[in-house]
Amino acid sequence: MMTSKIIPVDPFDLVIFGITGDLARRKLIPVLYYRFIDGQIPKNSRIIGLARSELTNEQFRNQSLEALKQTVSEKDFDSEQVNHFISCIHYIKNDVNSDEDWDTLQSLLKNAPNTVQAFYLSVAPGLFAPIVEQLGRLNLAENSRLVVEKPFGHDLASAKKLQYQIGNVYKEEAIYRIDHYLGKETVQNLMALRFANKLFEPLWNSNHIDHIQITAAESLGVEGRGEYYDNIGAMRDMVQNHLLQLLCLTAMEPPYKFDADAMRDEKLKVLRALQPLMGEQALRNTVRGQYLGAPDKPGYLEECHNQGSQTETYVALKVKINSWRWAGTPFYLRTGKRLRSQMAEIVITFRSTPHSIFGQIDTPIWPNILVIRLQPDEGLNLSITTKDPGPGGFRTRETPLDMTFADNSGDDWRMPDAYERLIMDVIRGNQTLFMRDDEVEAAWQWIDPIIQAWRNSGTAPESYDSYSSGPTGAVELIARDHRRWRDVIV
Ligand code: BG6
Repeated sequence: MMTSKIIPVDPFDLVIFGITGDLARRKLIPVLYYRFIDGQIPKNSRIIGLARSELTNEQFRNQSLEALKQTVSEKDFDSEQVNHFISCIHYIKNDVNSDEDWDTLQSLLKNAPNTVQAFYLSVAPGLFAPIVEQLGRLNLAENSRLVVEKPFGHDLASAKKLQYQIGNVYKEEAIYRIDHYLGKETVQNLMALRFANKLFEPLWNSNHIDHIQITAAESLGVEGRGEYYDNIGAMRDMVQNHLLQLLCLTAMEPPYKFDADAMRDEKLKVLRALQPLMGEQALRNTVRGQYLGAPDKPGYLEECHNQGSQTETYVALKVKINSWRWAGTPFYLRTGKRLRSQMAEIVITFRSTPHSIFGQIDTPIWPNILVIRLQPDEGLNLSITTKDPGPGGFRTRETPLDMTFADNSGDDWRMPDAYERLIMDVIRGNQTLFMRDDEVEAAWQWIDPIIQAWRNSGTAPESYDSYSSGPTGAVELIARDHRRWRDVIV
């Protein structure tokens, strides 16, 4: 059974801009509560929420209580602890353009400040730069950390501009660019699997791996965010960050140590080694899709209120990495909304044995497949070929070696949310699981020409049925290489 020792962090002031937003309600407040009841957050820490609404402290604390009631499990909802936690929360109205509002924040922070101060931008991207400018003007940036939610830019040019604006105020060592996939338990486990075991590393290259699939499928559509999403699309929303980060962690060389710059240097090398996809190459190696309606659900075009929209809600790509380790092993990436199930996984398919001594009919030999399941049922699964038990001939079968983390972690164990680790890492000052500016830029540099090629082609994304596995073009993309996607099922 797994035991984990909780080490309390130093008392901190965490200032969250956009505290009345969806992310704060669904994730940030609940995950801070979980860290609090686990004894990691000292009681004299302050969570200072900012938003434009005129709310009193008490009104906002009541809203936070409601958020906890909706998100925290019954077992973990302890009224006494909830009261203690809620008393750490403070609310201040903040309109970016109001000097008076900033004065209120400044005096609260100056009154008995905690040594660690972090500013979390959970607001529309257009507000990132103005807020950071104000923090600089008021000298609040000097000894604090800045947490920036995605998207970091819309393309390379806008990412560079944002970096310039933020970089005028904050040094790189103080900027924490969130990609919440890096906080997922299995993603960190991927690093343990690769770099804390001898077993896989000698096989982790194109001599032994046939191909790799990375999938992030969602059964939800864009729901209420249609108009916002229509300016973004799956490529910017999921591939530029989450999928490319997963690809980097799967493909990178072992860093010399588990530390922020060592890790990020290696990830950057992968991003720079991605074979560019431009013009015809981009069209040939990518597939875009857009979901249709279901009997009880509107299609994407209705949801985004733009009948002419060419925004993709699905994308599949064949990606090559130009390096000794990976030449000859394609990576197939796909992500989409309104698909058959909600799941994310990395699948490593090893090459087949060079020769079968058993014959083919009753004794097929399946390639070994290692599945790293990010969600749901986080865990690892390695399929191997074994003999069917019993006398009466020699037949083979495919047998899974299954390690679902929850099964090995005791009854009380709860899968932590990715944000729990990430927020505590900000407070601890550990940037290992955050993206550096050069990584973000390298990702955009690779993504931009693909989006450009789609735009230049004048073609629309292929339609796919709601709750299906995605567009048929994606099946053809991989079938051209005599391979097939793993089913999108849980
Ligand atoms: C976010 C995207 O970054 O990730 C959303 O903006 C997406 O569109 C979400 O739904 C998926 O996250 P998860 O953790 O549910 O896989």
